[in-house]
Amino acid sequence: MTPNELRKKYIDFFVSKGHKQIPGSSLIPENDPTVLFTTAGMHPLVPYLLGEAHPSGTRLTDYQKCIRTGDIDSVGDALHLTFFEMLGNWSLGDYFKEEAIRMSFEFLTSKEWLGFDPERLSVTVFAGDEDAPRDEESAAVWRSLGIPDSRIYFLPKEDNWWGPAGETGPCGPDSEMFIDTGKEPCGPDCRPGGCSCGRFFEIWNDVFMQYNKRKDGSFVPLERKCVDTGMGIERTVTMMQGKKSVYDTEIFQPILKAVGDLASVVYGENEENDISLRIIADHIRTASFILGDDRGVKPSNVGQGYILRRLIRRAVRHGRKLGIDTNFLAVPAQIVIDMYREPYPEMGRNASVILEELQKEEERFRQTLTKGLQEFEKLVPNLLKNPQKMIPGRVVFRLYDTFGFPAEMTAELAAEHGLTVDREGFEAAFKKHQELSKQGAEKAFKGGLADHSEMTTALHTATHLLHKALHMVLGDHVRQMGSNITAERLRFDFTHPEKMTDEQIARVEELVNDAIRRDLPVTMEVMPLEKAKDEGAYAFFGDKYDADVKVYTIGDFSKEVCGGPHVSRTGTMGHFKIQKEQSSSSGVRRIRAILEK
Ligand code: SER
Repeated sequence: MTPNELRKKYIDFFVSKGHKQIPGSSLIPENDPTVLFTTAGMHPLVPYLLGEAHPSGTRLTDYQKCIRTGDIDSVGDALHLTFFEMLGNWSLGDYFKEEAIRMSFEFLTSKEWLGFDPERLSVTVFAGDEDAPRDEESAAVWRSLGIPDSRIYFLPKEDNWWGPAGETGPCGPDSEMFIDTGKEPCGPDCRPGGCSCGRFFEIWNDVFMQYNKRKDGSFVPLERKCVDTGMGIERTVTMMQGKKSVYDTEIFQPILKAVGDLASVVYGENEENDISLRIIADHIRTASFILGDDRGVKPSNVGQGYILRRLIRRAVRHGRKLGIDTNFLAVPAQIVIDMYREPYPEMGRNASVILEELQKEEERFRQTLTKGLQEFEKLVPNLLKNPQKMIPGRVVFRLYDTFGFPAEMTAELAAEHGLTVDREGFEAAFKKHQELSKQGAEKAFKGGLADHSEMTTALHTATHLLHKALHMVLGDHVRQMGSNITAERLRFDFTHPEKMTDEQIARVEELVNDAIRRDLPVTMEVMPLEKAKDEGAYAFFGDKYDADVKVYTIGDFSKEVCGGPHVSRTGTMGHFKIQKEQSSSSGVRRIRAILEK
């Protein structure tokens, strides 16, 4: 079964069970300061899991591109990926455990759908602790479907609890489904959660969202219980194709083969080469998706751009290890583009951006790489004499600053020589020099869910007021190009050919503050997208929309298509102030603004 077939089957199955298909979201979360990338299918749905009404109803299904960078250093083994696709179905206060598990079982085992032999299926459920009881309910459903107790495992929170990936948000016990690959048991503890030998392959997770975790650590029951499930496409295809590793499937084989040809090596013949081939295949697949996203990110030294840079540079270095000394990233990238342009049309639309940016970054890096590696090799003999066998932070920083070596790459080079790096020392030098910390390089290694604190919500409403005020002051050519909100400030990108004058800025502030002072009501209505547009509602063209959308109206002032959430009245938002107005890119201006309480 191919990924395209699996995607279609999954969606067809859940549509036949009364679900509405919704479009997946961008890889770059909007209005979420806690995370750099979309990490799971549920991520864009957090507001709805917390109680917002979804315009498409209470049963939803989709496929979603996801990136998890926490595992980036594990990539190279036969299992880990930084980019993957997740299939999901959601109940927003509709069905709960019993129906969710029954549907999962039917889709997995029915001949009409995936047709896995039920004998190969093992499941895990939550063992219970002080926060939530043992999940006997889910276990009973699995038993009623014929799964014997010997293949139902009760595991603690670290295995069978999902979310919140950040500090706060929806979460609850989950039930994971594993396929037995038929490998020999690795020992007496060979079982899901007991070992990691790869015999049991997790492919799906049903999460029963029952709680909202608060900042103080308490778990408050959600008024409306929800279900969030996630099936990994790459992993499921691996099992359907009877393979042991995702890299053995037709998703990765063409990439491994093409890069292998460039290096005159064959995948599967030499473990060290295989590691490099897998790193290149994984990283260029991920980098292509980041570059191909409509909310485009370019390689840089902060946030998502830093992750992108790191992925590209690590791929180039492993290419060199394989003996490839010319620019080659376009070859695997083109395969990725062609493989995914149908389910993700943005990959086709943005193909030239993907290829050009990869080429530019590869070029930039190659220019300094040779010199940097020589420098590094010169340092090694002395460093090996040092009893701690540790590279001082300032040296790691110099390699970063002068030769563009991401610190993680130096750590990897160091490990190849039996050395470690002084991370703390490096970070101190790094922070001092670039004040990177705020922007989130380290945030990249944590997961996180949307922060719907009061301030974020108010800033979201302020963004709508600002958007309208810009139209009133500058004209109707203003188009939203992006928006990003943290708990401290909003940032808004829009088309406008020149710098705003001080008078224009003051006028925009005045209009927004006037709308706040008038304490306008904020109301929401669900309507077809076409009707919303006819009514003059603004819509951000970078977003994908359902057929029915939510339209937020702020008194007589603004009307905009948006997922929410928003304040219910503008009166208590505070005083709006524009801190900065600057160029973002050609023809695009960027405003940074705050609400002073
Ligand atoms: N959110 C859950 C996961 O990522 C199910 O989608 O596993």
